[in-house]
Amino acid sequence: MIQESEQPEPEATRRTVSGTESSRANRGWWDSNADEYQSDHGAFLGDDRFVWGPEGLDEADARLLAPAAGLKDRRVLEIGAGAAQCSRWLAAQGALPVALDLSHRQLQHALRIGGDGVALVEADAGTLPFRDGSFDLACSAYGALPFVADPVAVLREVRRVLRPGGRFVFSVTHPIRWSFPDEPGPEGLSVSASYFDRTPYVEQDEDGDAVYVEHHRTVGDRVRDVVAGGFRLVDLVEPEWPLWNREEWGGWSPLRGHLIPGTAIFVCDRDD
Ligand SMILES: C[S@@+](CC[C@H](N)C(=O)[O-])C[C@H]1O[C@@H](n2cnc3c(N)ncnc32)[C@H](O)[C@@H]1O
Repeated sequence: MIQESEQPEPEATRRTVSGTESSRANRGWWDSNADEYQSDHGAFLGDDRFVWGPEGLDEADARLLAPAAGLKDRRVLEIGAGAAQCSRWLAAQGALPVALDLSHRQLQHALRIGGDGVALVEADAGTLPFRDGSFDLACSAYGALPFVADPVAVLREVRRVLRPGGRFVFSVTHPIRWSFPDEPGPEGLSVSASYFDRTPYVEQDEDGDAVYVEHHRTVGDRVRDVVAGGFRLVDLVEPEWPLWNREEWGGWSPLRGHLIPGTAIFVCDRDD
């Protein structure tokens, strides 16, 4: 029997969706699902680790933002910070992080975990509430960029708030994953959709209103977005699935991770 409080499952579809609808849907989704997300993934993320994605690549090893000595006293903006685990690691390295997220509930988890030296800001990545040149570095581990309709607008905003010579490193779902079912098992190994179809993935309620949105970009699109955002692309890192990691995270799994990339990390410099 269906309880009165139970919501019908949203319908998954592919359709065009505006920036405003994407932003509203994702704020609602992350507010509603933050508790479950932190309960499911909090242990893997660690309270004060900086993990770039489900493969478990750790910034302590990768050093994509700066060499260890280069983080001290650096002003760092983390975009789509969730519970601010990465920012807590940055603070422990002597950096001065600001953790920004769209979702109030995600930031409440940041407060629950606590920790000194991390400022929290609730805002949309498309309109950053900071002056030009406020930061030395910016980073985003799966925050915002997979979910926004206009990634170039976000990149331009990040460039604006970085000082000349600053660096932005962000990770997103590897674009090749768009072609495969989002399943961790063997069913996730057969191509089921066109890599070139940019139509967003949308979950919508019974009124047809989006409640969750992901926007697809091909690798070439992402490179062009970085350049259009005013950055120079320094590296594109595709972390391999390490033997020690046996954890499944949604469609990311050891089985698929050993065969196809799951995460793409873009290292971008603002030259002037
Ligand atoms: C997959 S989580 C990543 C968070 C964190 N890096 C982690 O690994 O847990 C994505 C985060 O991006 C945030 N987000 C989504 N769209 C955003 C936007 N337009 N502006 C700012 N944050 C956004 C969500 O609220 C969510 O906390």
